[in-house]
Amino acid sequence: MERIKDVISAIDLDRSNVELILSEAEIFQKQLEGKRCLHIADDRIVMTVFLEPSTRTRLSFQFAATYLGARAMDFGATEISSIQKGETFEDTIRMVDGYDPDVIVLRQGVPGNAKIAADISRAPVINAGDGANEHPTQALTDIYTIKRETGKVSGLTVGIMGDLKHGRTVSSLSYMLDKFGGNTVIYIAPEELQVRQEVVSKLSKLRYEKADSVEGVMEDIDILYVTRIQKERFSDPTEYERLKGSYVISRNFLEKFKKRPLIMHPLPRVDELTNDVDSMKEAKYFEQARNGVYVRMALLKEVMDL
Ligand code: CP
Repeated sequence: MERIKDVISAIDLDRSNVELILSEAEIFQKQLEGKRCLHIADDRIVMTVFLEPSTRTRLSFQFAATYLGARAMDFGATEISSIQKGETFEDTIRMVDGYDPDVIVLRQGVPGNAKIAADISRAPVINAGDGANEHPTQALTDIYTIKRETGKVSGLTVGIMGDLKHGRTVSSLSYMLDKFGGNTVIYIAPEELQVRQEVVSKLSKLRYEKADSVEGVMEDIDILYVTRIQKERFSDPTEYERLKGSYVISRNFLEKFKKRPLIMHPLPRVDELTNDVDSMKEAKYFEQARNGVYVRMALLKEVMDL
């Protein structure tokens, strides 16, 4: 098995890397019961650089580092950085790397810039979202949650619904499911928001189909993975207004079906998933967010070679 250094795409992780992270995440989840810190990374520094907004990914990496015993340092808001004075992305990464962190966790809006950062940086770079391109650590969190909730990572039918064109979790989750045999994805979206050809062209084992209605596939899927319409990625605001209510998953909607799938969502949600679903037994999205901490602990352990 290749050692994990930079994590830029879900494709970079081979199946054995993913299986290792899933099993280590499970161990960390158990070890953390009743403990605040495992002290296995006491002299390490994890640097989070988030040039686009985040709650879950930024905080779960910072908590993961802290639970391992590492120091979590944050770049802070771009408004208080010299990016405001015109400093380039490349120089920003050179400066951060020059202070000698053990790992840089990077979110920014330009597809492909995570790879540029990894090429510049001595420290390993973990892509925490590069525009609409990829979000590999979310895909690890998703597959860990799927395994915990269903007991398997193969032979599943997953409906991925919403803004599949702009959603970076969609591409990374597709690549992740492709590593395990016998999975099928149904991409559910209006034509304008369907999955990018560039994504499906990289799949090898994963069977997939496209649908424009969620009703017709509800009883065929094990998991419904709901995603937000990504307002910030639309160049035309009227197009966003036209498409934003395309699908809404509510308790009332779900109760129409005898067989209901598990409901996952990378969060944040806006209008596409109503609060009254939260108390249903199928709702798994808050566990999914919490699982991100254990998965990122396992990933940090591997990347820092602990
Ligand atoms: N799921 C996810 O990436 O959430 P944040 O944007 O809050 O990090």
